[in-house]
Amino acid sequence: MKKSQLIFTQYSPLLAVDVGITGIDGEKIAAPRVCSLCRCGASKNKPFCDGTHSQIGFTGQRDNSEKAEPERYQGKNITIIYDRFMCMGDGHCGELEAVFGTHDEPKYEPDAASADKIIETIKKCPSGALSYSLNDEQQANFFSHTQIIVEENGPYHCHGDINLIDDQNSDSLLPKGDHYTLCRCGASKKKPFCDGSHLDIGFEG
Ligand code: SF4
Ligand code: FES
Repeated sequence: MKKSQLIFTQYSPLLAVDVGITGIDGEKIAAPRVCSLCRCGASKNKPFCDGTHSQIGFTGQRDNSEKAEPERYQGKNITIIYDRFMCMGDGHCGELEAVFGTHDEPKYEPDAASADKIIETIKKCPSGALSYSLNDEQQANFFSHTQIIVEENGPYHCHGDINLIDDQNSDSLLPKGDHYTLCRCGASKKKPFCDGSHLDIGFEG
């Protein structure tokens, strides 16, 4: 199969080309080779676009493009790398509180748990905000299978080798790695990326 692609403008849905779509339960969602995915949050045929974005005046303009350099927290055996811009704040990392702290009081303590435990936790970070380096080599490719997973009431999880092409150079903001999360509720301030706003607006779909 040719390389998978997501192509869109500020005014369009996501055009997915040559990429499998899967539900959060792992069930494949039948889709043609080229399909439009809703990102305004209002389609009645989610995850697919039904044209509603043009009726509600949706634009996918990004409010916030200020991306700082990823932060690095060096420990004895592992360096934690945190790309703050990409974080969607879902709190998976807080499961290892000694290292990552809590949602309200985050911290980054690479020596507060074994490297294996830290790696296990980092691999659960859906947005790609977290990665790590061992012996000065950044490890950020965690998925062998290329697919888009549709999270119920949440974002698109893009895994594997999926090119992102749009009119706001969003690919330049992507973290180093093979996964990222895209907004499908329409409320993110960091479109096309998810920033956790789906929780604030009680998105359902
Ligand atoms: S997106 Fe990653 S870094 Fe942000 S809260 Fe979730 S697990 Fe932590
Ligand atoms: S799905 Fe829109 S901000 Fe997460």
